[in-house]
Amino acid sequence: MVSRSKLKSAAGAAVNIGLAEKTRKIVIDILGTLLADEVVLYIKTRNFHWNVVAPNFSEMHQFFEGQYEALDEVFDDVAERIRSLGGRAPGSMGEFLQLTRLSEKTGQIAHAPDMVQVLLDDHERVIRSLRADIEKIAPLGDAGTEDFLTALLEEHEKMAWMLRSYLQ
Ligand SMILES: [Fe+2]
Repeated sequence: MVSRSKLKSAAGAAVNIGLAEKTRKIVIDILGTLLADEVVLYIKTRNFHWNVVAPNFSEMHQFFEGQYEALDEVFDDVAERIRSLGGRAPGSMGEFLQLTRLSEKTGQIAHAPDMVQVLLDDHERVIRSLRADIEKIAPLGDAGTEDFLTALLEEHEKMAWMLRSYLQ
């Protein structure tokens, strides 16, 4: 495991926002794993944007672009939330691959429906993880992160619906 939250060595003054260091550490670790999932999902979506083959190529190319742009904003927000809580955001591919709960095996996929299925499975996995993370955070009193993760959950549910709609 990568050491994700060296609170004392994270640059800057002490964080005094009404959350115990122990609480912040738990939340920062949860957010670090989520950040890795979001970055991996972003790269997979971008890969599919580049390599998709389909009769409706232009539509799928643009659809994947819209999704990776949304994920770009999502993982930036996750990283900056980690910083807001006094943690260090994981920022290397090595760390992301060690932390992520998603699988990277996407090199051989060329056709749009297979890509859509892979991304849908990943979004649903992230949604289930977020639900578990929210439950873990609820008793800790970190209202900001709880609210943040709930909004992310809804965003992934919407992205998953769009992917699912291509399969029906
Ligand atoms: Fe592009």
